[in-house]
Amino acid sequence: MSSKISIKGNKPLFGEVNISGAKNAALAIIPAAVLVDGVCRLENIPNIVDVMVQLEIVRGMGAGVRFLNPTTVEIDSRHIALNNPPFELMRKLRASYYLMGVLLSRFNKAEVAMPGGCDFGGVRPIDLHIKGFETLGAKVSLKEGGFVCLKAENGLKGRNIFLDVVSVGATMNIMLAATLAEGQTIIENAAKEPHIVDLANFLNSMGARVMGAGTDVIKIHGVPCLHGGTYSIIPDQIEAGTYMAAVTATGGSLLIKNIIPRHLECISAKLVEMGAEVEYFDDSVRVTRSGPLHKTNIKTLPYPGFPTDMQPQLAVPLCLVEDGASVITEGVWDSRYRYVDELRKMGADIHVDGKVAVINGVGHLTGAPVKASDLRAGAAMIIAGLAAEGETTVEGIIHIERGYEDIVGKFKAVGARIEYIEEGYGEMRDIV
Ligand code: UD1
Repeated sequence: MSSKISIKGNKPLFGEVNISGAKNAALAIIPAAVLVDGVCRLENIPNIVDVMVQLEIVRGMGAGVRFLNPTTVEIDSRHIALNNPPFELMRKLRASYYLMGVLLSRFNKAEVAMPGGCDFGGVRPIDLHIKGFETLGAKVSLKEGGFVCLKAENGLKGRNIFLDVVSVGATMNIMLAATLAEGQTIIENAAKEPHIVDLANFLNSMGARVMGAGTDVIKIHGVPCLHGGTYSIIPDQIEAGTYMAAVTATGGSLLIKNIIPRHLECISAKLVEMGAEVEYFDDSVRVTRSGPLHKTNIKTLPYPGFPTDMQPQLAVPLCLVEDGASVITEGVWDSRYRYVDELRKMGADIHVDGKVAVINGVGHLTGAPVKASDLRAGAAMIIAGLAAEGETTVEGIIHIERGYEDIVGKFKAVGARIEYIEEGYGEMRDIV
């Protein structure tokens, strides 16, 4: 039975929010644990659907997966089997593509289902991943039914790889493949996102030799094997940014805890232009908004640029500007504006032309029934509902649960009037 989220909005948010571990780091580090012929203990694991699916995938391949507490999991990959990967689960998740790099690296062969994930309304290719594997010596073929077969008969050999497009997934997948390859791999024009540095730190703490992560040239000296160990995943930059955007939209003041300030600078720069005050502490940030919102232009770019995964959330406060037009330019994906029709139902005035959206500030939004078309679009719907006058119901919340831990509980704790409603009964239920 599917459920919806109901929000009674137009109420400022006050209090503290604790940020969970980073989704996109966890989604790479869990399969990376399959490279290790031993036991990895991962701390700060976010309790979200995508991470649970990724854990089920590695469990389905024979890894031992055991939670020691709600945020710490042990993965024992000593008895991984290649003959029965859970294809249906792989299709649910974009990040299942990391198993290509991991299995190639450890076993010199892999057969995986084409990955699923968020549909932004455009193409999400994996050609750069494939090009990288081929450069390292793998033969790649597509089989009927949407399967990718990869084989490196003579093992993978380190090579230089130039990425034509800055790709987070290709950078991490090639890094994974090169970890146990023979010799040195150099990835040029690499992506620099915080989760790339986190994956490199994880691999290095298990005995890999990855240098330069966080710059656009990453060097990986292949090692024969990795050993087990303990690693703590970084906090989620986008989850933190989502709460920062929410309080900017609703007004109020939130102390957002368990963050890395450096990761949030690209987001807070825009929020400050919009009229929010942002004050950083060692591992927390306070965002306050009491005055009017100002129009702002945003262009999404690879890190350290403004993240595409924060674009829908920031569109909401831009709708609430009293006067003036803001321009958003999507610089990463071909299209990422499927949420715009939903915001229009709430009174937004937004014109989209290809990669550009012009948002004419309308001062306020009005609650309406809306749908989450993908994960970050869903977060934008929640923020819109929190700021809007009247009641908003958000459908399609499975998209939101893929990437936000306890979003209803966290917003409720800072004063939001937000509830799950079970479809069919019209009955409100709190989440724990
Ligand atoms: C990851 C994130 C996603 C985020 C995106 C950009 C995960 C699970 N997902 O997605 O939330 O929106 O980074 O920050 O971590 N491209 C190619 N060929 C390829 C691969 C990518 O042309 O083989 C292009 C894409 O079409 C896109 C751009 O490169 O225009 C960036 O995509 P990429 O960074 O690879 O995104 P993902 O890793 O899939």
